[in-house]
Amino acid sequence: MTHTHQRTLVTTALPYANGPVHLGHLAGVYLPADIYVRYKRLCGHDVIHIGGSDEHGVPITITADKEGISPQDVVDRYHTMNADAFAKCGISFDYYGRTSGPVHHETAREFFSEIEKKGIFVKKTEKQFFDPKAGRFLSDRYITGTCPVCKTPGANGDQCEQCGTHLSPTELIDPKSKLSDATPELRETLHWYFPLGRYQKQLEAFVERHTGDWRSNVVNYSRTWLNQGLADRAITRDLAWGISLPLDSEEAKGKVLYVWFDAVLGYISFTKEWAEKQGDAEAWKRYWQDPETRIINFIGKDNVVFHTLMFPAILMAWNEGRSEGRYELADNVPASEFMNFEGRKFSKSRNYAVYLGEFLERFPADTLRYSIAMNYPENKDTDFSWSDFQNRTNGELADTLGNFIKRSIDFTNARFGGEVPWDVPDYFLKNMDVILAHDTEIDGDQIFPVLPIDEIAILESLIDEIGHAYEGFHFREAVSKTMDIARRANKFLTQGEPWKKIKTDPELAGKMMAVSLNFCNTLSILFYPIIPETCNKIRSMLGCQTIEELRKGLKSDESIWDMAKIPSLRKGHKLLGSSEILFSKIEDKDIEPEMKKIEALLAEAEQREAAETPAPMTFKPEITFDDFQKIDLRVARVIACEQVKKANKLLKLQLRVGSEQRQVLSGIAQHFTPEQMVGKNVVLVANLADRTMRGELSQGMILAVEGADGRLFLLEPQGEGINGNSVS
Ligand code: 2FM
Ligand code: ZN
Repeated sequence: MTHTHQRTLVTTALPYANGPVHLGHLAGVYLPADIYVRYKRLCGHDVIHIGGSDEHGVPITITADKEGISPQDVVDRYHTMNADAFAKCGISFDYYGRTSGPVHHETAREFFSEIEKKGIFVKKTEKQFFDPKAGRFLSDRYITGTCPVCKTPGANGDQCEQCGTHLSPTELIDPKSKLSDATPELRETLHWYFPLGRYQKQLEAFVERHTGDWRSNVVNYSRTWLNQGLADRAITRDLAWGISLPLDSEEAKGKVLYVWFDAVLGYISFTKEWAEKQGDAEAWKRYWQDPETRIINFIGKDNVVFHTLMFPAILMAWNEGRSEGRYELADNVPASEFMNFEGRKFSKSRNYAVYLGEFLERFPADTLRYSIAMNYPENKDTDFSWSDFQNRTNGELADTLGNFIKRSIDFTNARFGGEVPWDVPDYFLKNMDVILAHDTEIDGDQIFPVLPIDEIAILESLIDEIGHAYEGFHFREAVSKTMDIARRANKFLTQGEPWKKIKTDPELAGKMMAVSLNFCNTLSILFYPIIPETCNKIRSMLGCQTIEELRKGLKSDESIWDMAKIPSLRKGHKLLGSSEILFSKIEDKDIEPEMKKIEALLAEAEQREAAETPAPMTFKPEITFDDFQKIDLRVARVIACEQVKKANKLLKLQLRVGSEQRQVLSGIAQHFTPEQMVGKNVVLVANLADRTMRGELSQGMILAVEGADGRLFLLEPQGEGINGNSVS
């Protein structure tokens, strides 16, 4: 294969250090990126994988407040947790950075300064709540007050959790700052906006240029935004946690960069830190500022426009008017769809997730890597399940791959003194399919002599197909074709039956074992991107160096991948002499507790949803306009109210309706106290026939509506001079 681009920079979306990463993250971003990078390394290409934690943003400070710890504590905890989980899963980052680090702060400020200096930002003033005691502007989540709808105290500035209404903080009754309990004041605040529209044409050309090689979801999301016309985006916030602006002015005080402005620049900062660690501080420029380098951003579909529009626009602003130190844009942005679990979308906020670290406490990383790679959500959402995991581990990994490797090695150890018994001719593996085509007729006199040397090199072409699939980010195709080769190898051994042949034709049995062992070697290379730990175990049993050791001994562009195409285990090569089981089977009892847990989470989610999904609407039979006109609805005011004796549900209300007074009995005593009722405006059905209840007269009724959990809400008209007026 020829590769025009030998140098590649791979980045993966920086997960927020505000919670543990789950299997959905792994499937969409980190595993495919790692598989890709490991494949490139096998090919001898110059590739680095840069990732890290996104440590800014409001949710992190909210977690900190909730737990009574500092934001730094929060990000320290989750950065460590996620870095550990990734390491345990074999995600081989060349560098895993943190956006709270000094190099990143400096880089992000440098970008801001450069764009500010060029006068590209637009500044705009808006009104926002300010806490006079804490001396800080408040984001919506930092304001609380009484819900204007259900009157429950403690509603958030963006939503009332009691009744679910979405709010803006200015709607709250008696708003208070969560920081100090002070009453916040609306104050003017200045923000920096990035004028995305300035780069509309360039961004259109950028997306256009990649139509065809980018996935259609990536092109489509980007086009939708472009077609709407790109607007100015605020890139500063009034917050205490984040990267402060590199300006001394009074107006910049207390402001930080918007988390997305800084996060995407993390890729650059972390490459700088990586270079520093290599002892070659300038090395990062080869990856970011050389048009020969391919830049690949692995992300999930929810992050597309940040990577195809915002980040490129920031780089365009930096590049504007520069002839040197220009940044290159991404070559590809392979965005995944979502991998669901047991039919449902992962959601941290809804408490439906299987976390990577926890999973790896119970099952080996490679079993997870393989199963997830087979479920890679390339073009559509996929679904992963415990039974899928069990079936793939038992059927494909244990019975096919594991079984083939172990039988090959054990039989050689037992019957051939742990040595490769024969020199497999070079052309042999290349033509394995030809042999396999005759596999039902395998016998000593036929297989080897009949091999046509000029046959099409099928194994070699299969291996090339797998390589092409990786280059095109078609991970499921690559992985299943790799397993196909294991299946063929397994079939070769099973149908060849060297354990029988050894009695009649030991030489042929030896040839078969030599072929099988070379297949083991081939598979230990081909499977390396997917199940690296297992591959090194296989190599150790084969008496071979690990892939990493092998790589160290090679020249930088020598390809291990291509070594999979030739039978490199020669006659006399010594195996380790012992073997181990590569994959233990997953029994039902191993996953039963996990399935129970998921069932419980699913049941919870369903209950929540049932509560949220409105029942199908049924309406009363139609009436005419005249029918409606017969009802006289009036605005009335409650001027007095008391509980009806010995009737615990009934309140007796005295209403003022224009110049009249009415007494109404209403069954609302369990929802409102008499004190709460006095002073309220209500809607009265004014021409309802009088009734007597518990010896008391009721002259009409008032309107109310039932909400969630049987809670009752009165219709309370608001306005001046409406008393006694008709409601129509
Ligand atoms: O969606 C997220 O989890 C973001 N933290 C991703 C950031 S990607 C990049 F900009 F760093
Ligand atoms: Zn409410």
